[in-house]
Amino acid sequence: GAALLKFDIQPAANAVSEADRAAKLRDPGFGRVFTDHMAIVRYNQTDGWHGARVESRANFPLDPAAAVLHYAQEIFEGLKAYVREDGGVNLFRPDANARRFRNSADRMAMAPLPEPVFIEAVEQLVRIDSAWIPGGEGSLYLRPFMIASEIFLGVKPSAEYIFAVIASPVGSYFKGGPAPVSIWVSENYTRAAIGGTGAVKCGGNYAASLRAQAEASDHGCDQVVFLDAVERRYIEELGGMNIFFVFEDGSLLTPPLGTILPGITRDSIIALAKDKGTQVREEAYTLDQWRADAASGKLKEAFACGTAAVISPIGQVRSASGDFTINGGTAGPVTMGLRKQLVDIQYGRAPDPHNWIRKV
Ligand code: COI
Repeated sequence: GAALLKFDIQPAANAVSEADRAAKLRDPGFGRVFTDHMAIVRYNQTDGWHGARVESRANFPLDPAAAVLHYAQEIFEGLKAYVREDGGVNLFRPDANARRFRNSADRMAMAPLPEPVFIEAVEQLVRIDSAWIPGGEGSLYLRPFMIASEIFLGVKPSAEYIFAVIASPVGSYFKGGPAPVSIWVSENYTRAAIGGTGAVKCGGNYAASLRAQAEASDHGCDQVVFLDAVERRYIEELGGMNIFFVFEDGSLLTPPLGTILPGITRDSIIALAKDKGTQVREEAYTLDQWRADAASGKLKEAFACGTAAVISPIGQVRSASGDFTINGGTAGPVTMGLRKQLVDIQYGRAPDPHNWIRKV
């Protein structure tokens, strides 16, 4: 069966030289530098998942009528590989990404990829491209994705898919590193409604966020935050990250699952906080309450979290109905403490009580 797919490993003949790689790794930023290889698995109805291989990273030949180009049947994941101090490599919760990828495929009427195949593809790529994992606080961002490749313009689930994994050495998602970010509250655009695709990781969600993200940039903000689509009052999530609030009693609050993306970083933060006895509420929270709590001092900190963003403090909130500042616009101790705790587990510098690390 598919779980036993064996990857054909074809090392790239045109791999980047060691000197060029070192130059590219010096200050990679986010998502512009790529490794030498990619993993690919194909699906059709006769053969199921087949043709698993790791090969030189190259363009896809794609027919102009491929379904993904028209009806956006596409899903993706994001996870990272880290170099430990002993030189080994850690993956963080790849099983959670594999599970979410299956859920996304289900919602988008795509062929489900067996979780062991997802994990094997990621591991094989990390192995062959391990020299591309930056040292220090950098990491190798892995981007598994699946596209509908059937050549057909009818609106129906594709009969053929391409699953692939590419890898990109990264530093910080935000230009300023973990410096506080500014958030624009979108009161015109929403991201997701009940019954929609907000809880799955499909490219379309991100496409639909871009106009609002552009509005955020126009207002000098790093990220947009969306409100719920029904009442336009409750905080949902940022363009590509979840959000947490920290109160004066030390408790945390984060919006409940439903229409938001069930972040793996979000889930990990909830677990780490609960380990310490911190109260964590997954509850609806309005923009008005956020503003009032920031003004009264009840709200101490807020932060964004995601695989790409890790944990990034929120300093400024701007909206058509006024601006406010969190924690004097500086990074707070709860935010930075959680960040250190999470990152230490990811890099293997701290014990891993939940068995999140998979050594490659
Ligand atoms: C991630 O954090 O991995 C994301 O998917 C966010 C963004 C880069 C799309």
